[in-house]
Amino acid sequence: MKFLGLLLLASLGYAQSLIQTEIVHKGRVVSIYCLGSIPGTAKGDLLVFTSFKKQIKRLLSKPLTPKIEKKIKKLKAYKKLGTPACENINRDSGNFDLNGNATIAGKTLFGIPLHLEANITQGRAVYETYCVGCHVERTNYTFPVVREAIKQSPMLYDESQIPDQTLAHLIAYFNRFRL
Ligand code: HEC
Repeated sequence: MKFLGLLLLASLGYAQSLIQTEIVHKGRVVSIYCLGSIPGTAKGDLLVFTSFKKQIKRLLSKPLTPKIEKKIKKLKAYKKLGTPACENINRDSGNFDLNGNATIAGKTLFGIPLHLEANITQGRAVYETYCVGCHVERTNYTFPVVREAIKQSPMLYDESQIPDQTLAHLIAYFNRFRL
């Protein structure tokens, strides 16, 4: 049954339902991710989501040092605070379909010419090929803004190196969490 649930999550894809949101914990604003109504984090590779529940379970399987106990306490607080945040957010932005392709609404919002395909997974590969190494992701940037920016030194990427179709995928990736 658990396996079936996982399969279901995998087939739904993260594209539409993994959303970044913010909670206030001890006066500090903490950024968390919600997959459906499940709160958690999506560190490093932003497409890999780990629920707080799973993180707590992992920690509980280790010898309980004071440091680990403190971590568990923090995660439990996030989990509790995250639940209403996850329920309140607009989960269905309509910017992507279930396969991570930008819809007409999404393309319009991101400034991507409508005749181009714009897919999150393909965009991630473009990002890893051309952008990683120099600076962190540029989230929420539109197509025309990035087209101009990457022409500048030291990037000097023009249309012959990164054609519009390639850029369209990249822009889908940059806007994957946008509401
Ligand atoms: C050779 C290193 C290098 C690579 C590779 C690179 N950049 Fe840059 N980029 C820079 C530097 C340096 C700046 C100017 C300083 C800054 O803003 O970080 C910059 C600035 C930018 C800016 C404008 C500044 C801003 O954030 O508003 C954007 C947008 C941008 N890069 C996007 C990209 C994208 C998209 C890629 C991949 C297609 C890419 N860069 C690849 C080094 C690089």
